[in-house]
Amino acid sequence: MDHVRLTETARALVADGKGLLAADESTGSIRKRFDAVGVESTERSRRDYREMLVRTPRVGDHISGVILFDETLRQEAADGTPLVRLIESAGMIPGIKVDRGAKPLAPFGSGETVTEGLDGLRERFDEYASMGARFAKWRAVYSIGDGRPSAQCIHANAHALARYAALAQEAGLVPIVEPEVLMDGDHDIDACFEATELVQRAVFQELAGQRVLLEGMLLKPNMVISGAEAATQAAPEEVAERTLACFLRTVPAAVPGIVFLSGGQGDEQATINLDAINVLALKIGAPWPLSFSYGRALQQAALRTWAGDNDNTPAAQAAFLAQAQANQKAALGAYAA
Ligand code: 13P
Repeated sequence: MDHVRLTETARALVADGKGLLAADESTGSIRKRFDAVGVESTERSRRDYREMLVRTPRVGDHISGVILFDETLRQEAADGTPLVRLIESAGMIPGIKVDRGAKPLAPFGSGETVTEGLDGLRERFDEYASMGARFAKWRAVYSIGDGRPSAQCIHANAHALARYAALAQEAGLVPIVEPEVLMDGDHDIDACFEATELVQRAVFQELAGQRVLLEGMLLKPNMVISGAEAATQAAPEEVAERTLACFLRTVPAAVPGIVFLSGGQGDEQATINLDAINVLALKIGAPWPLSFSYGRALQQAALRTWAGDNDNTPAAQAAFLAQAQANQKAALGAYAA
């Protein structure tokens, strides 16, 4: 394992308030996003859309890395340049989503999932590394309510996350460890805090147990927020206070960075909350940069503007750049200021 290279890559991904573009929607997820704006999902339309994003002028000033789906890592731009090379020449680092999705946790019926994809992963990592991927992502999912997340779900997912992370590092890729406590539901922010704390404790216990190099990984968690359907929504200052309290308690200082997912927060909400977290971190101190790895919150406006028509590319790129810029400011605690 090349400790120096892993550590350098992990640090580069969170340098200067930059964050990640999660453009790794599976074929099913991107179809849903395209359906919402009336675009047919074909191999070509998916390629055109992602090419548009990574060709955005100066995007590398704000985005450090792009997470890709397997199909995209293999695709070429309309002019024949591999998309991976476009990403690199824009000064960004290519990454790859390697999990094979969250599947019902046996015995069926608990409403919980465990993420699959470990079989054959060593060989897949070798191929991805040879294609230029320098980091990877694996997402575990937990829901809140009726006894969820259960100890069994927390343990099974922590174990899989650590096995994935160890394999990624063995192949020289920085693992992004993503345990996502969903915001679905009408629970309050305390319930989110409690679930997130339990999940993070289990994840870091497994990472240590499986000898994952903390200096050579990034954590991609949910923020600690109110359930999406909760009658009372915690204000950004409370989100910041609870989020920092939770991660200061559970995430070792050796981890080079925390990159939040947006998880269905609106674009503006995701930026404002990230900014509030960093404003507080500047005040009380935090051992890691706190940045973003957003999918929807970075892309929503751009996708709506592009709407399947390449004539809209300049306007869509402007919308995407504005989101990238705003979130970089938020990662520096300088968005609202
Ligand atoms: P969202 O920011 O849309 O939650 O996506 C991030 C991601 O990569 C989820 O796995």
